[in-house]
Amino acid sequence: MSRTAYTSYQEESTRKIAAIEQILQQQALMLKNQSLIDLFMHDGFRAQNFSTQWQDYTFDYSKNFITEKVMQHLIQFAHEKKLQQKIQAMFSGARINTTENRAVLHTALRRPLEKPLVVEGTDIMVAIAKAQSQCREWIIRLQSGYRGVTNKPIQDIVHIGIGGSDLGPKLVTQALKAHQRSALRLHFVANIDPEPAESLLNTLNPETTMVIVSSKSFSTRETLSNAAIAKQWLSNRLGTKASHHLMAITANAAKAQDFGILESHILLFWEWVGGRYSIWSNIGFPLALQIGFDQYQQFLRGAYEMDQHFINASWRHNLPVLMALIGHWYIQYWEASTLAVLPYAEGLSQLPNYLQQLDMESNGKHCQANGLPCDYKTGPVVWGQAGTHGQHAFYQLLHQGTHFIPCDIIGVVQTQAHNKQAHQELLANAIAQSQALMLGNTHENITRKQNIIEGNHPSNVLLLKKLTPHNLGALLALYEHKVFTQGVLWGVNSFDQPGVELGKVLANNVLQRLQGKSASDTIDPSTQFLVQCVRQSV
Ligand code: F6P
Repeated sequence: MSRTAYTSYQEESTRKIAAIEQILQQQALMLKNQSLIDLFMHDGFRAQNFSTQWQDYTFDYSKNFITEKVMQHLIQFAHEKKLQQKIQAMFSGARINTTENRAVLHTALRRPLEKPLVVEGTDIMVAIAKAQSQCREWIIRLQSGYRGVTNKPIQDIVHIGIGGSDLGPKLVTQALKAHQRSALRLHFVANIDPEPAESLLNTLNPETTMVIVSSKSFSTRETLSNAAIAKQWLSNRLGTKASHHLMAITANAAKAQDFGILESHILLFWEWVGGRYSIWSNIGFPLALQIGFDQYQQFLRGAYEMDQHFINASWRHNLPVLMALIGHWYIQYWEASTLAVLPYAEGLSQLPNYLQQLDMESNGKHCQANGLPCDYKTGPVVWGQAGTHGQHAFYQLLHQGTHFIPCDIIGVVQTQAHNKQAHQELLANAIAQSQALMLGNTHENITRKQNIIEGNHPSNVLLLKKLTPHNLGALLALYEHKVFTQGVLWGVNSFDQPGVELGKVLANNVLQRLQGKSASDTIDPSTQFLVQCVRQSV
């Protein structure tokens, strides 16, 4: 395309986007005068028309302020934002993380190994297959009674990592507890607060413990601090042989070796796997260890099948795209600044934490990938808790508060638990909350205004048949692609995180001062005051 043709194509696209946005603006104004119940009254098939089924998933988005016209225009908006081309670019390994000049290939990690994926001249599936077989060897070794240096079998695994190197492993191992095939006990340590590490290690025997240090960069302060505590604890008992009780999962083998980890004890992954997308790499090792390699493959398979759905399904029936468009609609046109994630399954209680990093580290950006400012809102504040805990904590605000808060309610239909009655109560609560958010109680004869619950709060309901490795893989991939799609709609680079660096640098400077060392930079009065308070009372 010539330069002039490209310019006029761009101008045409900008015009189209402005026209779509204007229509969506008008639709929002109109819908703000209607209730969700009105929408159901006007369409006897609304629940069917605004729900979609995929494999073991049912996604009911009918209790949202949307109409067919709104959905069509949101879809057109996604077309104009080149979503299709961007999806293709990500899956093919283009360097879409432009600030870091990296490809974004976590999806390749769940691709069947026999399907080559040539990126810049190299079939990256070869390296992935090698890393997976390394992972499998270690699983077999540890599960078949691997003995430590004093010839006692390893019984406890201490996993040290933070952010993406902690949240994913923690979530998936908890979610799939019912699928456990291993007697090894897993423990997680993440915070730089030394108390959890020390009190955990006090309960364990170094001779029967393997410490795994998970860190893509192998330079994260929290992880290195906890790793040093654990290494010292091992060395106190095992002396120079402590390294036999240490493993690393990292993209920086050199640093892991410098720390004292044996080369043969290092499981690798790569720079092109973002930290918050790393559960599909060897960072998923704790899960593979817990449920065995075959079931772990099912976890990867579920994510792969969600990838295929994302690539191929029409957007009107595409789970990640639908979720992203509805989120975009509320953020841009309804002033929603948060999203509550409410999984009704104790196994998914870490999901809100996991999604906080996935969504907020990806799309919490004020600047587009091309450097222009975002003159619109971007990623929401993601929060939530497993149901029914939240019902006894913050649902009061959801029902009678003054903020507009869209909710994702997630229910698991079948349980592995024996008490099916209690499980039905759990599910009943999930569905009833979505209903209560919509209906409120204004139809009843209520005399005190304080007791009125207005209702008319939107929610998505995502039902999955069973919490299996396959379905969990698909669930996480669903949210990944939702976040990716929203990043495309807002033009941000969802794969860098420059905002988290500043705090790390400043913490270093503050640490210098706390330790009484002189720091060259000037310091603001509040920081100086706090440093003095700490120094006077330690
Ligand atoms: O919070 C910043 C971050 O870089 C995350 O993106 C990442 O998941 C986390 O720190 C941990 O990083 P690493 O795996 O390199 O220790």
